[in-house]
Amino acid sequence: MEIQINNLRMFFLDEGSGEKTARVPLLFVHGFPLNHEIWSSQIQALRTTHRVIAPDLRGHGKSEAPPGPYKMEQMADDLKALIDARRCGPVMMIGHSMGGYITFAFLRRYPKLVAGLGLVCTRPGADAPEGKTNRENLALRVEKEGSIAAVDAMFPKMLSPTTYGEQLELSDGIRQMMLATPVAGIAGASRGMALRVDSSDLLPTIKVPTLIITGANDQLISPKESENMAKQIPNATLHIIPGAGHLPSVEKAGEVNRVLREFAIKNFTA
Ligand code: MLT
Repeated sequence: MEIQINNLRMFFLDEGSGEKTARVPLLFVHGFPLNHEIWSSQIQALRTTHRVIAPDLRGHGKSEAPPGPYKMEQMADDLKALIDARRCGPVMMIGHSMGGYITFAFLRRYPKLVAGLGLVCTRPGADAPEGKTNRENLALRVEKEGSIAAVDAMFPKMLSPTTYGEQLELSDGIRQMMLATPVAGIAGASRGMALRVDSSDLLPTIKVPTLIITGANDQLISPKESENMAKQIPNATLHIIPGAGHLPSVEKAGEVNRVLREFAIKNFTA
């Protein structure tokens, strides 16, 4: 489905009703430079018990790609507009990587719309100066050479070594997803992530049930980041998934589905 919000044509899925069992809808926020399809298995598995909403963020997937930078606050505002239009809040917001940065920005701005949190392979901190320079360099390279420059920079670290070795079709699907992300989207999100603020101060104030998931072999965001978040967020549950890299929702979909379902049913069943 598509919706017009904040001068943006946004694509999203809104499936399942959750009428019988689950009172809190699950809103899935993908990372960079990917799209809602990284959540396909979770949507499929959880829509029988939950209402599941999964947008393509601005600049990604089938949504429009206006010029950036896309600040995390802007993308959080896009989610707020989507939630309002679909009348689905409060939600459990599940953010992967950049989707987690956006989730923190959303939590800061709209805490009443957050009933639960899922933080997948993400971190609360801002970029160090060197990281900010790398973001700008990536944006410039992509503007010159196309999306392939982002694939070259990131794809070799996206998945775990076993996934690359044993799941060729899956690996290629992720590569294609990255390659299909528009240049304006990659440059806009890269520059927007460089501008994000440190959200570490939020962690001890989080009151909602929080599920933290990471891949034991995540080469982009260390599992230590998740362990540290779990120590600082009251009421947090941590799952480190063996054999998964930066994309456990795809690499170990069955295990993520099981953990998420158990968590959602335990915390949000009417
Ligand atoms: C992502 O997967 O969203 C990115 O790795 C996040 C980042 O580059 O910091």
